[in-house]
Amino acid sequence: TWTPHSLEMIHGDPIRTLGVIGGGAMGAGIAQAAAIRGYGVHVKEVDADAASQCSARIDRLIDDYGRHKKLDADQLRQLRDRIDVGTDFSALEDADCIVEAVVERMGVKQSVLAEAEKAASKSAILATNTSSLSVTEMAGSLSRPAHFAGLHFFNPVHRMELVEVVRGDETSDATIAQLVSFVRALGKTPIVTTDSPGFLVNRILFPYLGEAIMMVREGQSIAAIDREMREFGMPMGPLQLLDHVGLDVALHVARSLGAVMRDVDDVIEVLSPLARRNQIGLKSKRGFYDYHGKKPQPRE
Ligand code: NAI
Repeated sequence: TWTPHSLEMIHGDPIRTLGVIGGGAMGAGIAQAAAIRGYGVHVKEVDADAASQCSARIDRLIDDYGRHKKLDADQLRQLRDRIDVGTDFSALEDADCIVEAVVERMGVKQSVLAEAEKAASKSAILATNTSSLSVTEMAGSLSRPAHFAGLHFFNPVHRMELVEVVRGDETSDATIAQLVSFVRALGKTPIVTTDSPGFLVNRILFPYLGEAIMMVREGQSIAAIDREMREFGMPMGPLQLLDHVGLDVALHVARSLGAVMRDVDDVIEVLSPLARRNQIGLKSKRGFYDYHGKKPQPRE
């Protein structure tokens, strides 16, 4: 049977049921990670079409996991049954924690969080998976900001160990403690960061990725930059990594780093036209590489 590894909490009730708003690349990954550890998960999508795409995404993730762990059909079904996907906020009423992973737009996030807060129990924790927006500003639409924090998973969720727990100005210690325990129960490693641009990881990672983008602009070879950084010891080259993240997501992060990253405007200048042409990486099969063939081909 599947049970959460640790339900002990320092304060408050343990998280047993998770709500996820937005079941795209990140939301589906978060739902799968929680189901594997025994949580019940409600995913809320925007409409029926998005919900069925989300279900297919979750099925693929669970099938891959099942193959890897050699699960039988019964175990796979048990796992799949832990997650329901729908379009109503009311499904979130028994969630102990609700994570939003919708599009990276402050207005949309504030409005879905306010709706979720109305549907949720008074003790529920709300969290955002934003990678570039201010957690403190987002809390402006909430009546219980002490129960709200950032919970920043990385892509792909099933492979990435680290999760940033982001403390907004009004986030309570109890909320941080519950989220830290939750991340540990998912088998991942939490770090608590301040609500400053890029939090910790992107603030350090983006100048590195930005330099790779600048080198491409100077005419250096995409394939050579990636190969050489892999030889240095990086698991993936910087341009390949950008394609995985999505150049649209990268553009949002770059825009948020103005206060802390030098020359970020040059990076934005390269990424903006690519994002406008929907040349955003793996998601659109074209980014720094082209993914239409068997092997990714670096763009000329
Ligand atoms: P995505 O575009 O794959 O998924 C977004 C999902 O939200 C879609 O399925 C869409 O139908 C749904 N959605 C949009 N508006 C909605 C609404 N009002 N109610 C319910 N669902 C709604 O985007 P992705 O990549 O999963 O990113 C989601 C969030 O996670 C963003 O805030 C992004 O910045 C953040 N993030 C993304 C990472 C990445 O590498 N892609 C890494 C870490 C965080």
